[in-house]
Amino acid sequence: MATLSTPQPTLPVSQPTLPVSMWARSLQQRAHDLIPGGAHTYAKGDDQYPELAPPFIAYGRGSHVWDLDGSEYIEYGMGLRSVGLGHAFPAVIEAVKRELANGTNFTRPSAREVEAAEVFLDCVTTAEMVKFAKNGSDATTAAVKLARAFTGRDYIAICGDQSFLSTDDWFIGSTAIAGGIPRAVRELTLKFNYNDISSLENLFASHLGRIACVILEAETSIAPRPGFLEEVRALCDKFGALLIFDEMITGFRWHLGGAQRIHGVTPDLSTFGKALANGFAVAALAGKREIMERGGLRHTGERVFLLSTTHGAETHSLVAAIATMRVYQREPVIDTLHSRGERLRNGFEEVARRHGIHDYLQVRRKSCNLIFATTDLALQPSQTYRTLFMQELIAGGILAPSFVVSYSHTERDIDRTIDVVDYAASVYARALDDGPLHYLNGCQVKPVFRPFN
Ligand SMILES: Cc1ncc(COP(=O)(O)O)c(C=O)c1O
Repeated sequence: MATLSTPQPTLPVSQPTLPVSMWARSLQQRAHDLIPGGAHTYAKGDDQYPELAPPFIAYGRGSHVWDLDGSEYIEYGMGLRSVGLGHAFPAVIEAVKRELANGTNFTRPSAREVEAAEVFLDCVTTAEMVKFAKNGSDATTAAVKLARAFTGRDYIAICGDQSFLSTDDWFIGSTAIAGGIPRAVRELTLKFNYNDISSLENLFASHLGRIACVILEAETSIAPRPGFLEEVRALCDKFGALLIFDEMITGFRWHLGGAQRIHGVTPDLSTFGKALANGFAVAALAGKREIMERGGLRHTGERVFLLSTTHGAETHSLVAAIATMRVYQREPVIDTLHSRGERLRNGFEEVARRHGIHDYLQVRRKSCNLIFATTDLALQPSQTYRTLFMQELIAGGILAPSFVVSYSHTERDIDRTIDVVDYAASVYARALDDGPLHYLNGCQVKPVFRPFN
């Protein structure tokens, strides 16, 4: 914790962020009048950000965004990790602009569907077929449905330690915000623990011949212990269940081919999205031919209604995906994500140590996908300290629900961020001494998954 002798950095902002204008505040109220929650994505909602956060973003370029009042921020998180290259990345935008002039949706498929599938399968070499969708949730839900149809079983096993797999009932029914989801659906979702193979083995034993699939992210906050993923694969094979890896975050961030390529374990099905089209709405279900074909026209078995929506293959989004994947193929995108994240991690940790608060304020996870963890004096995870830390970052021109970088984050962005973290850490240290409420403006942020407001 800080002592009086700790040097207190001054806020290194050349253009301080402006206070939120009355106009932006009234639009924020209007949003809540018209839209439940005031936004179309809970993770962007007002309850996720401190009071002084910009209520809306007007536009973004590269790693920077501007709010409605003209304040500029270095942004992290990047559209819930969907913008891997940076905002309005020229190679993507130019390709989309050209495509828009040709129309976006027709009564028969576009050849872009084949081209996007080819480029995708060149990247994700462990899969043989792919079907695109608009949202990651649609892809994971389709994977679960396909597994149920393929195995003729109803139960599914999900990794209970992982925070999000889908907006659909099979997953949300297993969270603290399960309102509106029938008990019958909830009971079909079973949970095991990451890195704990016996918890999965027990599920298979207690539901013999009834589990259709095991679905998990191959890696999130902690790495798989040696052998864990191979053991999950072996259990699925032994008990006749499909293995599904949700690569929504790890795909196009850990490795072009996802975490499955790094860990050398091939699932039956996997799902991608997020950085796949640099913020355009494209997700993908990919996997083995014999399973994926159940959603196709070349078999005589029972048909599976697999991912078919009006907007499922809008050509401009597919072109965005093609352009994005080509940038990943020819430029050192993933290496850059890792090295920028590493620079930020090192600077962050040095600052937290210097302020004596490294036990309370930490940066975690893989360098390409950093989050920060905030705890109180009792070392308990604290939303109050999270709010305070984000508040001080925003005051210094850094909008950061996490420290997830993009290809556009420069070393200069990172170094400036570390300077602001330095200031925010000095406030954090003082708050640990004096109590956070002395420093907090407005309400604290809240977790999305809670049963009541
Ligand atoms: C691991 C994971 N799977 C699935 C999803 C769902 O994706 P979408 O929000 O595109 O429906 C998310 C979204 O945050 C995710 O993080």
